[in-house]
Amino acid sequence: MASSLAHNSILHHVTGKSVYVNDIPLPEGSLHAFPFYSSIPHGRIVSINCHEARKLKGVHSIMNYTEIPGVNQMGPVVHDEVCLAEDYVEFVGQVIALIAADSREIAIKASLLIDIEYEEMESVVLVKRAIEKGVMLKPARKMETGNIEEGLKGSALQLEGEFYSNGQEHWYLETQTALCIPLEGKEMKVFSSTQHPSETQAIVAEVLGIPRHLIEVEVKRMGGAFGGKETQANHIAAWTALLARKTGKPVKMHLDRDTDQIITGKRHAFYSEYKVGFDEEGMLQALDVKLHSNGGAALDLSMAIMERALFHMDNAYYIPNLKVLGHAWKTNQPPNTAFRGFGGPQSIALIENIIDRIARQLNIDSSEIRRRNFYSSGEKNITHYDQKLGKNPLAAIYEEIMETAEYKKRRKGINDFNSQNKWKKRGMSLVPVKFGISFTTSFLNQAGALVHIYQDGSVMVNHGGTEMGQGLHTKMRQVAADTFGISAEKVLISATNTSKVPNTSATAASSGTDLNGKAVENACLTLKKRLEDAFIEKFELHHSEEIIFENNHISAGRARMSFADLVMHSYLQQVSLSSTGYYRTPDIQFDREKGKGTPFYYFAYGMSISEVELDVFTGKHELLRTDILHDVGESINPLIDKGQIEGAFVQGLGWVTTEELRYDEKGHLLTHSPDTYKIPTLDDIPKDFRVAFTKDTANPNNIKRSKAVGEPPFVHGLSVWLALKDAISAVYDHQKEPRLDIPATHEAIVLCLEAMKLTN
Ligand code: MTE
Ligand code: HPA
Ligand code: MOS
Repeated sequence: MASSLAHNSILHHVTGKSVYVNDIPLPEGSLHAFPFYSSIPHGRIVSINCHEARKLKGVHSIMNYTEIPGVNQMGPVVHDEVCLAEDYVEFVGQVIALIAADSREIAIKASLLIDIEYEEMESVVLVKRAIEKGVMLKPARKMETGNIEEGLKGSALQLEGEFYSNGQEHWYLETQTALCIPLEGKEMKVFSSTQHPSETQAIVAEVLGIPRHLIEVEVKRMGGAFGGKETQANHIAAWTALLARKTGKPVKMHLDRDTDQIITGKRHAFYSEYKVGFDEEGMLQALDVKLHSNGGAALDLSMAIMERALFHMDNAYYIPNLKVLGHAWKTNQPPNTAFRGFGGPQSIALIENIIDRIARQLNIDSSEIRRRNFYSSGEKNITHYDQKLGKNPLAAIYEEIMETAEYKKRRKGINDFNSQNKWKKRGMSLVPVKFGISFTTSFLNQAGALVHIYQDGSVMVNHGGTEMGQGLHTKMRQVAADTFGISAEKVLISATNTSKVPNTSATAASSGTDLNGKAVENACLTLKKRLEDAFIEKFELHHSEEIIFENNHISAGRARMSFADLVMHSYLQQVSLSSTGYYRTPDIQFDREKGKGTPFYYFAYGMSISEVELDVFTGKHELLRTDILHDVGESINPLIDKGQIEGAFVQGLGWVTTEELRYDEKGHLLTHSPDTYKIPTLDDIPKDFRVAFTKDTANPNNIKRSKAVGEPPFVHGLSVWLALKDAISAVYDHQKEPRLDIPATHEAIVLCLEAMKLTN
């Protein structure tokens, strides 16, 4: 039953009582850790002297890689990333030594007393330089359909160009943190703010050189993650565990904002080159693309992210001849990592920019060019990697949102406004999204759960997913409560713990609810069957009789019992009241060599329309209105889903407008705190914000007929950037193409207008 059950932690969040790692009371004698990291982008460590630092009162330990008992590695997919630098450093922020002290202040002070000498080497910070240098993290990836040469040759019109989108800092409110408590022997308990407890367990075990069963990782919740804690929370946990092992004391590391922003990886910046062929009607014929991402100094998830970028090169459009190459370049930046959308937004921004150019060149409204190219039916409903879309709702969503947002009427209004105003211009744009749901690394699509019913009828659900604010635990509570027909208050979701549910995948790829929901449901169904059997036996019913679990009661005809009574009865009958549950996504496969298959279980769709007003002198703008129509299948929790859509949109809008990562030529991040790195605030959200769900788009085979919602609506933020392009273009009466990369900061907009003065 869909219900907007309030988020599990809502009262605790607003009263400040929710427990994050940093709120856990520390055992007597606990130490505080701080990392000492490289201040240069690339070089050899000539000498390092910790003498003065060690002398500081309150410092307990300073360690480097030579004291790691296990392997000096923390690469998540490929072991190409050292846990602590050895002879060389490869980015500003690379951790070289670890300090444990009585307080964080003392540890920081000690880090300033470490004397290090480097021999600097040539460095590459930005992706364009990396292409010149030519060092890739892995060989390029390709996806191809049709015949690109013939497609381009046969196209009446062609455009070519380049495009750049910058990275993005995650800006989770809770910075990276871990608390490690050494227990008996080599056992250790790790409280971590991680999206991936099983991998955190694995990496901690590896650096300590012990089997995984000695490490228990627990995650009550994260204060936001957004992909930034899919792999890189492992780092903090590994460093903390090393100090805890060495000192034999509980150790906590909680990064301050600036350090977090300097040393952790971010969304990948992408530079792209493209050639597109189309006809006079604006129909796409051929698209030839080279994507280049700034991977940073180690692989991390760069190839999976590039792969998702290749999968989303089409966004919502049928392109008969498509060739896309993806290169992840090695640079002297912290390894870049997962961030909401996982490469999807980067390639979607590119294709949307291309469509925008085509529309301007043909002088046809861009929403119309989009509509014409949507996937539809037959062969025009098959992606470049050969997945059939089945019944796709693009046309229906388009019609509905154009109507409800009064696009045509408002377009006239905008044209009138622009002809009457010289220094203020308005712009509007529609953007669709089609987002593939499943981990593209197919085996990751599995999940487990462990459900206990206690004798009083209260239920404890453990599952492998982690809560980061997205409401996963609330939805899992609904799944369990609905399966047993009991009220949600009777169900508690435990902290995620590797000793309860092992070998889990990261809570990522928007699939937390899909995967864990089915695992929880399966565990509950097993238990329900056992309760049913006990009920049948007690009342001597026929097995064919329908047994109803509803309103905290079980009934069949006149036989009726409360859930709690049946549980107690079953216990006395020696029925097991605990069960695991497991789920793996069926029917998906992908051949990486061929670049063909059915990698996604299904797609989530949506569209948005944004309207802006631009001040031509300053580049400042107001977001007048945004309409979003988004497909969440049959919503499990409409309020949570609406919150996810709004939040994702605003995060997307930040990426495309105000958030700017700027580096000096030495690779120092210049924007590493909120005074220079501007995330969206209340003032930046739409003045008029309308979010609606598509109707009749139930997703029959998924948990409760729902669809994943975490990442897809991030793409709606692009409508703001394209609306800005539209407003800029109005300055020259839509006769000139603005080159507006991402992010379109005020400064970038002014520079774009300046550049347009010089073109014809
Ligand atoms: N919502 C909140 N409040 N905080 C987050 O960190 N992460 C996003 C999204 N929504 C995030 C969020 C990302 S990147 C993903 S992949 C999904 O949530 C993960 O959770 P889910 O799979 O349960 O949707
Ligand atoms: N999304 C998020 N994380 C991932 C993925 C994905 O598709 N594949 C591997 N890790
Ligand atoms: Mo989300 S980027 O898959 O953690």
